[in-house]
Amino acid sequence: MYVSDRLKNMAESATIKMAQLARELKSQGHEVISLSLGEPDFDTPTHIKEAATKALADGYTKYTPVPGLVELQEAIVTKFKRDNKLDFDKNQIVVSNGAKQSLANLSLSLLNEGDEVVIFAPYWVSYKEIIKLSGAVPVYVHATIDNDFKITGSQLEAAITDKTRMILFSSPCNPTGTVYTKADFEPLVAVLEKYTDLLIVSDEIYEYINFLEAGHFSIANFDSIKDRCVVVNGFSKGFSMTGWRLGYMAAPLWVAKACAKMQGQFTSGANAFGQKAAVDALLGDMTPTREMNQTFRKRRDLVIGLLKDIDGFKVNFPEGAFYVFPNISALYGKSADGKVINSSADFCEYILYTAHVAIVAGSAFGADDCVRIAYSASEEQLEEAMRRIKKAVEALV
Ligand SMILES: Cc1ncc(COP(=O)(O)O)c(C=O)c1O
Repeated sequence: MYVSDRLKNMAESATIKMAQLARELKSQGHEVISLSLGEPDFDTPTHIKEAATKALADGYTKYTPVPGLVELQEAIVTKFKRDNKLDFDKNQIVVSNGAKQSLANLSLSLLNEGDEVVIFAPYWVSYKEIIKLSGAVPVYVHATIDNDFKITGSQLEAAITDKTRMILFSSPCNPTGTVYTKADFEPLVAVLEKYTDLLIVSDEIYEYINFLEAGHFSIANFDSIKDRCVVVNGFSKGFSMTGWRLGYMAAPLWVAKACAKMQGQFTSGANAFGQKAAVDALLGDMTPTREMNQTFRKRRDLVIGLLKDIDGFKVNFPEGAFYVFPNISALYGKSADGKVINSSADFCEYILYTAHVAIVAGSAFGADDCVRIAYSASEEQLEEAMRRIKKAVEALV
């Protein structure tokens, strides 16, 4: 008996592993502050929960069409028009069990063994594994904190080969919080215009957690490439609906059809009453989403202010999501109790066991000189966590 090579080649999710270690420490009676998970710490807004309850009572308990309830597809079309000035037909929308499944659908439906996918690094942990599952090869383009974790046109061009099928990135970005503006995209689009066979997958799941005055800008707004863009989005972050498992994509029709075919054999349509409530999320009162945004923004300012005060931490000023991604490589070579810290994983382990704060090693996101801190916690918890981290860092020799 054995597990598949496919599984053997798959890394365990570093964020889930860190959360597990934190839970273990907690169960031993330690007061652990967990800043490791990519999950808003708010409940789903009441009107969305009520819509789900009503949908259950109204009999939304059966299989739905594989690409989603027509009324949700239509609500998504309306949302794209309203928020992004993007025009899609409802047949271009595929609703899935989370944006994660949307990405898995894309990978499994479109990629062959040996195809290459250019991924902007630092990247969200699952991109790499989801791409590898299809037999395709992830190719990384690395951005650093000195450039606010934004990649340049020449970096992108250097990564493209005749095997490249797709490029994949998130903005706002997990893990860096980086938000690409229209101006940031322009040099990248200039490159993409030359490679007309490439599909551009834009993961916009943090769209509503964006602190820029100008708001969110989708790369699909560039007319020259819009027909090759797939926009992935979902309900987990902006509406605090992580446990509902609902995401979606808007894609060229042939891509949407391919993904629906794939999903039809795996999971079918996403859950019926959740989809019905998701219509209310998109078309109903957005005040709770705006309030969450404001709360995250205040916390971002708080955390950045406190991190700047820690020697050895280099921080930038992320404009979205709920993560900061400081560079801590200045601390490498230092030690505590004779144990030398040589990597982001060493540092996170040290912080977990010394300060009882769970954060995630940058190596999981393709940047071993950084760590990811999720500020989806109360201001009191964040202040206490930063105080503990500072104390632990000051104890290093
Ligand atoms: C960049 C990014 N994309 C996609 C997802 C997956 O979201 P969902 O809960 O909709 O599967 C996450 C969740 O952490 C994410 O950070």
